Amino acid sequence: MSNTTATPSSETPAAATPYGTLPPASPPASRKPVSLPRLADMHARGEKISMLTAYDATFAAMADAAGVDCLLVGDSLGMVCQGLNSTVGVSLDTMRYHTDSVSRGLRRVQGTAWLIADLPFGSYQESREQALRSATVLMQAGAHMVKLEGGGWTTETVRFLVERGIPVCAHLGLTPQTVHALGGYRVQGKGDAGALLKQHAHALQDAGAAMLVLEMVPAALAAELTAELKHCATIGIGAGKGTAGQVLVLHDMLGINLGKMPKFVRNFMADSSSIAQALEAYVRAVKDGSFPDDRLHAW
Ligand code: KIV
Repeated sequence: MSNTTATPSSETPAAATPYGTLPPASPPASRKPVSLPRLADMHARGEKISMLTAYDATFAAMADAAGVDCLLVGDSLGMVCQGLNSTVGVSLDTMRYHTDSVSRGLRRVQGTAWLIADLPFGSYQESREQALRSATVLMQAGAHMVKLEGGGWTTETVRFLVERGIPVCAHLGLTPQTVHALGGYRVQGKGDAGALLKQHAHALQDAGAAMLVLEMVPAALAAELTAELKHCATIGIGAGKGTAGQVLVLHDMLGINLGKMPKFVRNFMADSSSIAQALEAYVRAVKDGSFPDDRLHAW
């Protein structure tokens, strides 16, 4: 019998393949696609933005169905998928492969999440032109926005990309690509260092960064910055509940972590009977402000 269900692409319908397939192409989701203006509107209204990492098509589709606003193809895939010790060894081609997989997973279910991809170490440090070439690879793989790590020195690169139509998410605080220079995975921006971090955050906003990941910075500093940055939504990971949104590594929040779980993670699988439920619980907890709990997850 022929399958008459319309599919969004020319790929073989899911029902015809046996291996962990995505759900068959669904009717258009009720949620409108998450766009830059929608994210800005959420930020202005104080609606918390939920973000999770995604590395493959199936989890991307599941996170989208759970209502996650933004998916990040993070270079944390170096640890999570590739078994590396840090993100330093992740290549642009690997990022392209995973961005393509996540993007295809979203298209397959007519997903609506905003898709961000990390520019990996060595793909943007050399020059603004190198950053543009690398960002183009990820945008052509399906990303809507690229993320890059670092303070003042990245400002001109951010401006260069934004002026050329590439939305940018900046990343300050604990920047894993420079873990060796930072001396380990430790809290950043304590004491006097907080003023410099703030200065960099303002410069990045002025350069056009629409989002800013704040990783492992004191909750008070993150909350102050969030109130100051009107045109750049802060997304915290280990930065307390005062940020405009939250991000976690997917495997961490599902309790799949072969090492020590970071303090800022909540295992949402612990009280859920399925992955879909855990993803929905995460979105709810971010939106209603019950995650993170500063007494447990922040500094
Ligand atoms: O690579 C990643 O997953 C990240 C998040 C931890 C923010 O950058």
